[in-house]
Amino acid sequence: MLTLILSDYLLQHFDKQSKVPCNRQLYQLLRHAILEHVLPVDAKLPSSRDLATELQISRNTVLYAYEQLLAEGYVAGRSGSGTFVTDTVPDAVALKSKLVTAVPKDEPIAPMLSQRGQQLVKYAGAAPQQWGAFVPGVPDVTQFPHRTWSRLQNKVWQNPLPTTLTYAHGGGHLPLRVALAEHLKMARSVDCVPEQVVITTGIHQSIDLCMRLLGDPGDLAWVEDPCYWGARNLLRASGLNIRPVRVDAEGLCPDAEDFKAVPRFIFVSPSHQYPLGMVMSLARRRLLLEYAKQHGCWIIEDDYDSEFRYVGRPLASLQGLDHANRVLYMGTFSKTLFPGLRLGYLVLPLALVKPFVVGMEELHRAGNVPVQATLAEFMAQGFFTSHIRHMRTLYAARLSLLQEAIAQRFDPKVVKPTGSDAGLHLALKLPAHCDDVAIVRAAAQAGVAVRPLSSYYHDASQAERGLVLGYACVQEPHIAPAFDVLAGVIERYL
Ligand SMILES: Cc1ncc(COP(=O)(O)O)c(C=O)c1O
Repeated sequence: MLTLILSDYLLQHFDKQSKVPCNRQLYQLLRHAILEHVLPVDAKLPSSRDLATELQISRNTVLYAYEQLLAEGYVAGRSGSGTFVTDTVPDAVALKSKLVTAVPKDEPIAPMLSQRGQQLVKYAGAAPQQWGAFVPGVPDVTQFPHRTWSRLQNKVWQNPLPTTLTYAHGGGHLPLRVALAEHLKMARSVDCVPEQVVITTGIHQSIDLCMRLLGDPGDLAWVEDPCYWGARNLLRASGLNIRPVRVDAEGLCPDAEDFKAVPRFIFVSPSHQYPLGMVMSLARRRLLLEYAKQHGCWIIEDDYDSEFRYVGRPLASLQGLDHANRVLYMGTFSKTLFPGLRLGYLVLPLALVKPFVVGMEELHRAGNVPVQATLAEFMAQGFFTSHIRHMRTLYAARLSLLQEAIAQRFDPKVVKPTGSDAGLHLALKLPAHCDDVAIVRAAAQAGVAVRPLSSYYHDASQAERGLVLGYACVQEPHIAPAFDVLAGVIERYL
């Protein structure tokens, strides 16, 4: 299995036409794969003969790369059984990678950090691995029409106006806001004019902006339980008082206890609850909107992946039903195009537009207008819609392969797939006695990356057990073999 992930990774990045010699390139790619945990500690490298055949290069080229890695301590030979990734990464690199990974729960947090900084670091959730079976939430970036993009980008750069190269207006590049307003009206039933659309670097920045402009430390925020770890961490680090609110088959389900204190924010993912995948019912939507209207709460709608719906018609946004200007709608290009683009958008009630535009200008001095201009053209010429259409078909096929693999291996009464009507992932619920964190650790050793469902809950000890699996970035031939490996691990814990 690991070999599949590695060969996928190498085939994508290895370039025989490159000016960098093949042996050097292979060494660099393998080194990178080790540092980024594509190859985890103790992973076995393929034999030099197999790798040479796979990449259609000479065996000596592979041997050179392996020897270099051996000399630098990234891998070690075990007599008779092969070459394995070591857990001793050279100092300078280890220091760098420690800085970018979450601090283990029991490690003291640097006391020089602010309260906010300490919270942020303590609860960090970003995974070091961003590609491969079954990393949740990652689109297939290899399908991005980069030639079209590059052509449009060249056009933007042919004769850029001064306004393309200075700071962005706080709301972002106007043609992009126009294209987005059009798309959101058609595809998501968002009720807006272009002025209400503010371009950000993604949902993370959108949340941060909302917290800075509308929230004060100690304000109460209702958050779905379970929910997106990133949102919860941002809210917590903004000093908000988080109240986890249960979800049921109809979405957010506040009870009498919850209603005792009025929240300032209600954070929801109504079109595809994250990570369980249910859709908020119309009755719940109405209840929430009415409650927010009566009490002056802000509803934050995270609409992160609902362009990809495989069952029934696309669902309308919550924002489209709001007649009291209480909903702040957030979307992202991280799922529809690629996460590294770092572009997202906020649709605001009109009264909030001006302060948010000023907020963006003062806090972030937004820029990247050439990228925004390229994207505006990409959307205006219909490439965005056709890319979504293409990806929806591709993801639907991958989803059904994964569902087949699950159905072949498990009784759905014991291992229950859920939330697969839309998006890039599904959740696999496991019996309550299963230690999903241990399963994830063991799966990582076997070369499969998944997230434990319990980690999305406010209190992991009270959480449902399960796994969150992303299938969008896994090529079709790898889905069944990768799931077989995962299934073998799950079976040990059932
Ligand atoms: C539910 C949810 N919201 C928001 C985000 C982050 O979006 P962005 O990349 O735009 O910050 C993610 C990313 O995985 C997500 O899963």
